[in-house]
Amino acid sequence: MQLTIIVPTFNEAPNVAELVRRVCAAVDGVDAELLFVDDSTDDTPDVVREAARSAAIPVRLIHRDSPTGGLGGAVLEGIRDARADVCVVMDGDLQHPPEKIPELYERIRQGDVDVVVASRYVGGGAATGLADRARVAVSATSTAITKAMFPIRLKDVTDPMTGFFAVDRSRIDIGGLRPRGFKILLEMLARRSMRVAEVPFRFAPRHAGDSKASFRQGMHFLAQLTALRFGKMSLFAVIGGLGALVNLGIVWALTSFGMHYLPAAVIAAEATILGNFVLQERFVFRDMTGEASGVWSRFAKSFTFNNVELLVRIPIVALMVNTGHLTAVVATAITLVLAFIVRFVFHSLVVYAPRTPSAKKSTVRRSLESLDDQAMAPGEL
Ligand code: GDD
Ligand code: MN
Repeated sequence: MQLTIIVPTFNEAPNVAELVRRVCAAVDGVDAELLFVDDSTDDTPDVVREAARSAAIPVRLIHRDSPTGGLGGAVLEGIRDARADVCVVMDGDLQHPPEKIPELYERIRQGDVDVVVASRYVGGGAATGLADRARVAVSATSTAITKAMFPIRLKDVTDPMTGFFAVDRSRIDIGGLRPRGFKILLEMLARRSMRVAEVPFRFAPRHAGDSKASFRQGMHFLAQLTALRFGKMSLFAVIGGLGALVNLGIVWALTSFGMHYLPAAVIAAEATILGNFVLQERFVFRDMTGEASGVWSRFAKSFTFNNVELLVRIPIVALMVNTGHLTAVVATAITLVLAFIVRFVFHSLVVYAPRTPSAKKSTVRRSLESLDDQAMAPGEL
């Protein structure tokens, strides 16, 4: 089997026969199968079985009785179950013209890319099938925001939100994907760096039935974006924030027992640094501890960094207040934010760096890539 065409369906009965007909015509001469992954509550499964009888290529159906992950979960299930490694994913409502399948297939078969995206926004493509002006605006805005949030990963992708693409299953980490809602392609592109090509296509109006897009899907999308972008970094920030509170608590407790402010502050700072290290080992960088240097070496680097940071930050605050006409609170806030970013960068690139980095790439390039990997790796909470 050379090609599996995966079609997620939710109540698409009136579109199935026409879709099967046009797909079969389009892939004439290719050893292909058509795989429906269906979560319908209507008679779509019966209609698929009926169409399968007279189809020119094998038509299979997975019906999920307890669907998980929505549209994205369905696509993933299809990719797992496909007979071919090369998969084309498309909607079941004919907004994605089946006549484009051969172009996607030929392109991915060249072997120099991992994903081929059918794009509405590249020369020759069109988004004319979007239902109304509101959808056009939502699509354009969310695409722009998404691209801005992943400037490196999505630099070659004009349409990360499309549901029409070809992928070589052997080149994606299926286990690492967390499908939530509609945008499974974005999930694949954002989680790890992939080689991408695009082909233009015209997004057609729906053949029959109604769209399943909804406000809820929009919320899913925002949650997905946040988790993809801020996964690790946000956990790191939460731990840092908790540490700051504990720090204050210790200072308060010690001084109220009569200790002088300075030793109390030092004890609180060191206790917090220790606590943060334990938490970040467990929750933020756990996946990297295997390849990084030993735990004492990591601790020494982290401990040194945090103490230097502490020593450097206080004179900087003083300098900002004295020369910059800033209040101490504003100056402290600015330096805390900067320190947070530098701390994250230092920990992902130095403290948890793999012991044997690959020799081929330049250090700068490798550092940038590994920072990008770290910042968006999924958190573990
Ligand atoms: N199995 C399954 N489970 N399929 C689903 C589910 C689900 O929960 N929800 C929707 N689908 C199927 C639909 O039956 C259809 O075949 C396809 O997924 C796309 O759903 P539509 O309801 O047609 O959504 P759309 O047209 O608004 O969105 C499509 O276009 C977007 C581009 O504007 C989707 O393809 C998006 O992925 C795409 O980004
Ligand atoms: Mn649609």
